[in-house]
Amino acid sequence: MKILFIGDIYGNPGIDYLIEKIPFLRQTYQPNLIFANAENSANGRGITQKIYKKLMNAGISIITMGNHTWKNPDLKNFIDGSNIIRPINDGSNMGKGYTIINYNDKKILIINALGKAFMNEENEPPFEMVKQILDTQKYDYSFLDFHAEATSEKVAMAHFLDGKVDMMVGTHTHIQTNDDRLLPNGTLYISDVGMTGPLEGVIGVKKEIIIDRFIYGQSRPNEVAEGPRQLNAVLFTLSPKRKIEKIHLDETQI
Ligand SMILES: [Fe+2]
Repeated sequence: MKILFIGDIYGNPGIDYLIEKIPFLRQTYQPNLIFANAENSANGRGITQKIYKKLMNAGISIITMGNHTWKNPDLKNFIDGSNIIRPINDGSNMGKGYTIINYNDKKILIINALGKAFMNEENEPPFEMVKQILDTQKYDYSFLDFHAEATSEKVAMAHFLDGKVDMMVGTHTHIQTNDDRLLPNGTLYISDVGMTGPLEGVIGVKKEIIIDRFIYGQSRPNEVAEGPRQLNAVLFTLSPKRKIEKIHLDETQI
């Protein structure tokens, strides 16, 4: 069983580059299932139904979200009954924070949760909520997308769940970390998968806007960066031997 997880899809550059690269990813890595985080797919703010359909048509099975889940109000019109899960602890009463899908004769539990550190301390406590789902549901394999800012919170969650969850990714920082590994009790883990979108921006946004904001405190609205694109992902192999592999593609590579 192999599962490919695509890191945070940012705006049209991310959607288009992912769709272009899916045949290559399928051929090279032979995943059984593909999941993706798409909380920034609508120009950095949430997701629309049109984008959702595009991603489904491209062969994504499950979409996870994050702190920008509800930034595009269109989601409220179609989240119920969709293959989108939003963070279990975001306090919303629409959609769901986990789902179980069937693949051949296996059940795969997928959970999405939000961190608290440097995000929103008001978020409900993710550690206990995620563990409770893992302890009470019936499944063969489990996957967590922990959408959080601090690597410390993500690593703490990974050790807390080591041996309880089969696969855990961190998302949200848009920068791929170099700590992909098999934890001592069997959880496959990476602190952040990285993003799929513009390569030359600041985590997806036009760099000039963010640089000015740091220097002058100016608050121009964010715009999606242009230019070469990148894709970041991880491939989980669950059997016969467990392993996690980082994937990075970008248009500056030959
Ligand atoms: Fe985020």
